[in-house]
Amino acid sequence: MAETAPASALATPRHPRWFGLAYLVIFVAGIGFFALSFVALGILPGLQLRQKMGSAQADMPPYSAAELRGRQTYVSLGCALCHTQQVRFLPADVRRWGPPTQAWETRYDFPQLWGTRRIGPDLARETGVRSADWQLSHLYDPQSVVPGSAMPPYPWLFDASPARPSAAATDLLAYLNTLGRARQSASGAALSKRADAAMDPALMAEIEILCAAPFVNPSQASLDAPAFNDLTNATNGPSGPVATGRNLGARGALLFTQNCAGCHGPFGDGASRAAKGLLPKPSNLRESRYSTQGLASTLWKGVAGSSMPAWRELKATDLASLVMHVQTLHTQPIDVGNLANSATLARGASVYAVNCVSCHGINGDGNGPAAKALVPRPADLTHKQPDASLVQRVLTQGVAGTSMPPWPGLSDADRQAVTAFVRSLYAMPAGVPN
Ligand code: HEC
Ligand code: HEC
Ligand code: HEC
Repeated sequence: MAETAPASALATPRHPRWFGLAYLVIFVAGIGFFALSFVALGILPGLQLRQKMGSAQADMPPYSAAELRGRQTYVSLGCALCHTQQVRFLPADVRRWGPPTQAWETRYDFPQLWGTRRIGPDLARETGVRSADWQLSHLYDPQSVVPGSAMPPYPWLFDASPARPSAAATDLLAYLNTLGRARQSASGAALSKRADAAMDPALMAEIEILCAAPFVNPSQASLDAPAFNDLTNATNGPSGPVATGRNLGARGALLFTQNCAGCHGPFGDGASRAAKGLLPKPSNLRESRYSTQGLASTLWKGVAGSSMPAWRELKATDLASLVMHVQTLHTQPIDVGNLANSATLARGASVYAVNCVSCHGINGDGNGPAAKALVPRPADLTHKQPDASLVQRVLTQGVAGTSMPPWPGLSDADRQAVTAFVRSLYAMPAGVPN
């Protein structure tokens, strides 16, 4: 009898009835939360992104077959390991590459190549920044055009010369030329919406101000670069032209080695590693006398239609020191004012008027009526005085890679005369500082 304890004492404590289903409840809640976060974090943003990408740009040009092959090559060679394709919401990025990247710009990219790591510069807006001969020479041998570049060479994409690219190299180039294309074809509405409400308003305001100005990549050769820096003040600064001049000269030589020697050669004579892949060839800077203003303008704008980049990223004093250095390269004695007798000049003027004026312009500034359609533009002979031997050579051979033709029809006397005349144009218009 003693074994039969009262049932109430022995029974397990009483629990609410649903407690027995706790496992089930937890299971369902777990699934529920998983599903909820999957929708909130995975699906909704994806839908939102698709909506943004889809509505912004209906007329974005799709990739061609060659461009898609180039994209494959870009991926397989690991270019994305060093290059991002995403201009971030940061003033430093916007200054260098323009307005921040928006989602729709990479609408046709899957997976996107936005990237996370920059060893080289961002490439989201690479189209138009560099000429084709620059890009190919750069792929073949980056250090030839950018001395000291950390980018590896890809010579197997070529048949032993940057001038003979394989199909893979031209496809890759085609792909590089798509980067930023979406933006160029975009409408104002798509471009104006830049940020979400979540952005820091102060940062946003700064970026808006930067974006309000027209943007051109500072390395991109441009016929009308946004604002031209007058360097005359930098060369003749308050500390006195002589003292400053000497420092600038040494700095100029260094900067030339770091930036220019790859193409123009260590001595500026155009004999360089890069020259074989570039057309037009880098100029021999020793064969002409250049005015300060002309050089400043060339460095600021680059030479559109050639591989010669613009150097707007350099400080004004650095540009001034480069200008000084380039001017020391020309060693021929200066003979302005004693060029030829007036009969020769008169004859030269008439040869010039018949043959050269349409491109080089009445006063030789390169703004003849035909000039607007030509890149590179005709030489501005008021700011550049080629040696007589150079003019003679140009008249015999023309300038390959430009619209400057050879003139086999000119008599010897006409050549001599037009050479003298062309050289007399240097700094002729009154008031042009040399
Ligand atoms: C090891 C890192 C690295 C890899 C890999 C790499 N690059 Fe670069 N790239 C750089 C660096 C550094 C620069 C900047 C110096 C220069 O211009 O050479 C650069 C510059 C460039 C530029 C010039 C951008 C401009 O306008 O100034 C282009 C275009 C470019 N790379 C394309 C490519 C392509 C295409 C590939 C793949 C085939 C590639 N890069 C692979 C590091 C790399
Ligand atoms: C990627 C190769 C490349 C680099 C780098 C380069 N240049 Fe050039 N440069 C050229 C080419 C090509 C031309 C010739 C364009 C032509 O014939 O119209 C040229 C033209 C010039 C001219 C105009 C010459 C003339 O006779 O009108 C000057 C001046 C000049 N470069 C200076 C420089 C300086 C200074 C640097 C360095 C800061 C530099 N270049 C870097 C390729 C280059
Ligand atoms: C169809 C247009 C055109 C005509 C016509 C023309 N030129 Fe040129 N010329 C050019 C262009 C473009 C350049 C720039 C080449 C360059 O950027 O390297 C140039 C450059 C030059 C140069 C500088 C070459 C150098 O390498 O520094 C000289 C000198 C010259 N021309 C003389 C003449 C003379 C003289 C005539 C007439 C007999 C003439 N040109 C007719 C377009 C023309």
